[in-house]
Parts: sequence; structure tokens; C-alpha cells
Amino acid sequence: MAIRNNVIRVLFVLTVVCGAAYAKRSATKASAPVAAAPGPATGTSCHPVTFDIIELGATADGKTDSTKALQDAWDAACGMDGEHTVLIPMGDFMTGPLNFSGPCKGYVTIQLDGTLLGSNDIPKYNQGNWIEILHVDNIVVNGSGTLDGQGASVWEDECKVLPNSLVLDFVNNGTVSGIKLVNAKFFHINVYKSKEVTIKNVTITAVADSPNTDGIHIGDSSEISVADATIGTGDDCISIGPGSERINIQGVTCGPGQGISIGCMGRFKDEKDITDITVRNCVLRNTTNGVRIKSYEDVLSPITASKLTFENIKMEEVANPIIVDQKYCPEKTCADKKGANTVTIKDVTFRNITGTSMTPEAVSLLCSDQLPCSGMELLDVNVEYAGKDNKTMAVCTNAKGVSKGSLEALACL
Ligand SMILES: *[C@@H]1O[C@H](CO)[C@@H](O)[C@H](O)[C@H]1NC(C)=O
Ligand SMILES: *[C@@H]1O[C@H](CO)[C@@H](O)[C@H](O)[C@H]1NC(C)=O
Ligand SMILES: *[C@@H]1O[C@H](CO)[C@@H](O)[C@H](O)[C@H]1NC(C)=O
Ligand SMILES: *[C@@H]1O[C@H](CO)[C@@H](O)[C@H](O)[C@H]1NC(C)=O
Ligand SMILES: *[C@@H]1O[C@H](CO)[C@@H](O)[C@H](O)[C@H]1NC(C)=O
Ligand SMILES: *[C@@H]1O[C@H](CO)[C@@H](O)[C@H](O)[C@H]1NC(C)=O
Ligand SMILES: *[C@@H]1O[C@H](CO)[C@@H](O)[C@H](O)[C@H]1NC(C)=O
Repeated sequence: MAIRNNVIRVLFVLTVVCGAAYAKRSATKASAPVAAAPGPATGTSCHPVTFDIIELGATADGKTDSTKALQDAWDAACGMDGEHTVLIPMGDFMTGPLNFSGPCKGYVTIQLDGTLLGSNDIPKYNQGNWIEILHVDNIVVNGSGTLDGQGASVWEDECKVLPNSLVLDFVNNGTVSGIKLVNAKFFHINVYKSKEVTIKNVTITAVADSPNTDGIHIGDSSEISVADATIGTGDDCISIGPGSERINIQGVTCGPGQGISIGCMGRFKDEKDITDITVRNCVLRNTTNGVRIKSYEDVLSPITASKLTFENIKMEEVANPIIVDQKYCPEKTCADKKGANTVTIKDVTFRNITGTSMTPEAVSLLCSDQLPCSGMELLDVNVEYAGKDNKTMAVCTNAKGVSKGSLEALACL
């Protein structure tokens, strides 16, 4: 199997089926070993091979294009039975788009110890994303390295379609842990049509005025969990779009940014329902929104968001700590095409939400008169106004449900 100028060959010394027998594998670059060539086969499992991108020709100077070395490392690791690792060692490596497509024969770990810098040659990104993990099962991305999207120089160019940094599309059973993501050109992590993905212990940072730099966006996916993450960007820390179910967010510290959002919903035709979302044990610091549900009013096909729980959340100087907005319309062009609202929002619990709000309206439940929000619960919601000239309050329209244990001024149900 030729992977670089026909000089690198992965030799299958023994060909076996993983788990059923054992193999000795080695990879060679010309005559030098590329990867840790295992000693004589002794176990009942395959020998893991590490594909170190430096040995495959990458240059750790932050300038030389190392795309090919990374792509070759992926293609080799993905093409072998067994558990193999793509290693990005310490150092700065510049790359363009990386097409990490499966299905893979075995299990691949991408170990990121160094820093990958996303090229600013935008026309190269014809796949739409920077690092695209597509149709891969059992993928692990870990280490303590950094994915630096180098977005600052392209953010002003808002007319261009900019690439997301790390994309998991059609992934089953994935883990992303330990890594840092900074200055994505667009979203930092985008999870789409995936199942059983865990994102934990990641740090995501972009300046507060960077456009569309959502930390993690999840859409059309199920059983996704985000835990112990620190996220501060110019857009939503986490946004959960249509088609998401059984999503668990916990231990996230968010700010600056626009908070943790469900939606928006109703922007496109044939969107799928959102259900069973839990956001727990989070801190929101200096964000424009805390926890938010947003939907357009003029919707093409009906959609329901239900069983949404937000609990044990601390707000620190958040502009709009709790906000449900069924008349979301950032483009301000919705008034003239106000259709029959068909986004249903029901069974939403806000429990044990404390801290401070930068505006008097700590709670806003702005639901539609045609289809009011139902099954809403405000339980132990105690958010105080951080300013001096006014007092905390709730603004609620067309919301039905119960309030218990909350500040009287916020108990609007
Ligand atoms: C990515 O790689 C896969 C598998 O090798 C290939 O089928 C696909 O066309 C590639 N995509 C792009 C955008 O190059
Ligand atoms: C999920 O992926 C991990 C890492 O590759 C692997 O160890 C584990 O066995 C996989 N789980 C299932 C259910 O396949
Ligand atoms: C990364 O994941 C692999 C496979 O699950 C594991 O063996 C390794 O210890 C992990 N490394 C780190 C730094 O977490
Ligand atoms: C989180 O990731 C860092 C590397 O970025 C690592 O040093 C640390 O041990 C990880 N923490 C946990 C609890 O896994
Ligand atoms: C809050 O965030 C804004 C940018 O959104 C920043 O200018 C300001 O310094 C932050 N305030 C605090 C107290 O962190
Ligand atoms: C309420 O949430 C805070 C975190 O914001 C947590 O420390 C506390 O234990 C929670 N209280 C209850 C009764 O669960
Ligand atoms: C308090 O805040 C509300 C809502 O923003 C506003 O309508 C009202 O005028 C404010 N009152 C004072 C005394 O500033």
C-alpha cells in the first residue's frame, strides 16, 4: 500500500483478523521504520501502530504545509485492522483541509500533542470544513494539543462560507477529550448525524466579538454528551439544533459568548424534533444569554421541542439568564411573513437557577399566542438583578405551567 511517493509501505508481515489471531506489522519509509514496529507477535490482539506525522514528512515550523503527511497518516491508520494512532507530536503544523473519511478497518485514535494551524487559503476548503471526520466509528481524538483555526484574519469576510474546525459527521461512538480549540473560522466543533459521542475536558476559546464561532454545535444527532468543558467565544458556547435527542450537557463553564441555546428551530423545511435534552451543573459568566430556547414564528413544517431540563445553573452577570423566544428573528424580516406558528415548546424545566442578571428581566418566556408553551416549570429560580437602579423581574407571555420555590418576582407561571 503506497502512501507517500510510493516510498512508504505498510508491511503486513502476518495477515490476520484482529481478535482472532495476531499480527506483526511494521510501516517503513524507504528503509527507515515509520512507526513503532512491534517486536515478535506474542498476544492475541493486533499490534498498535503509531503514525507519527513528522516521520511522514510534516514540518513543525508552523508554516510549511503538512496536509499531506497528516492525510497519509490517516489513510494508513484507517486502512488497517486493529487499533492505530495518528500522532501529532509537539510542534506547530500548518495544514489545509483534512479528509478523515471512513469507514475504517479498525479503531483510530488521533493523538494531538502539538498544535495544528488551519491554513488561511480559503479556496482550498472545498469540502467545507477543516478537519472532517466522516463515517467513522469508534474514533478517539485526544491529547493536550491545540486546534488553532487562525480565524482572526478571515472573520471580517462574512460573505464567505468559512470552514468549521472539527467536524464529526455520521460518527458512531466517538470521543473528543483533553484538547483545546481556538479561533475557529466558523464553529469550533460541529456534530452532525452522529450517535454516542462524548466531548469532555475540552477548552474552546475565541474573542467575544468573533462572528459565528459557536463552541459546539450539535444537530441531527443522539446520545451526545458534553462534560467538563470551558468555552468562551463570540457566539453560542453550545447550540443544539433540530433533530437532536438524548443530549447531556454538564459541567460546562461558558463565557463570554451567547450562552447555551436550543435552536434555532424553524429556519428550514423538514427539521426534526428536539427532545430529551439536559443541561446540568453549568456556570454562565458574562454571557448575553444564559439558557435559551429560540424558534422562528413563520415555519415551513411543524416541529416540537420537548423534555428540556436546565438545572443547577449559576448565572454570573448574564444579560438574559433564562429566555424562551418563540418569535426569534435576528434578521428582522419576519413581520410581513408571519405564518401560523408550528413550533411546539413543551415540558421545559428550569430548576435551581441562581446568580445575577445584567438586565432586570432575569426570566423571559416569550411564547406564541397561537401555540403557547406548555408544561413549563420554574423551580427554585433565584436570579437577582446585578444593577442598582431596578429590580429583578420576569416577562412572560403565553407560557403555561407552574412556579415553585422561586423568587416571587420571577414566579410568572
Ligand atoms: C474524502 O475521502 C473519501 C474516501 O477516500 C472520498 O471518497 C471523498 O471523495 C473525499 N472527499 C473529498 C472532499 O475529497
Ligand atoms: C467505542 O470506541 C472505543 C474507542 O475506540 C472502543 O474502545 C469501544 O470498544 C467502542 N465501543 C463500542 C460499543 O464499540
Ligand atoms: C487516547 O485514547 C487512547 C485510545 O482510547 C488511549 O489509549 C490513550 O491513553 C488516550 N490518551 C490520552 C492522553 O488520553
Ligand atoms: C484534561 O485534559 C488535560 C490536557 O488538556 C489533561 O492534562 C488533564 O489530565 C485532563 N483532565 C482530566 C480530568 O482528564
Ligand atoms: C464581559 O465580556 C465583555 C465582552 O463580551 C468584556 O468586554 C468584559 O470585559 C467582560 N466583563 C467581565 C466582568 O468579564
Ligand atoms: C443548586 O445548584 C448549585 C450549582 O449552581 C449546586 O451547588 C447546588 O448543590 C444545587 N442545589 C441543589 C439543592 O441541588
Ligand atoms: C426597570 O426595568 C424595566 C424593564 O427593563 C423598565 O421597563 C423600567 O422602566 C425600569 N425601571 C426603572 C425605575 O428604571
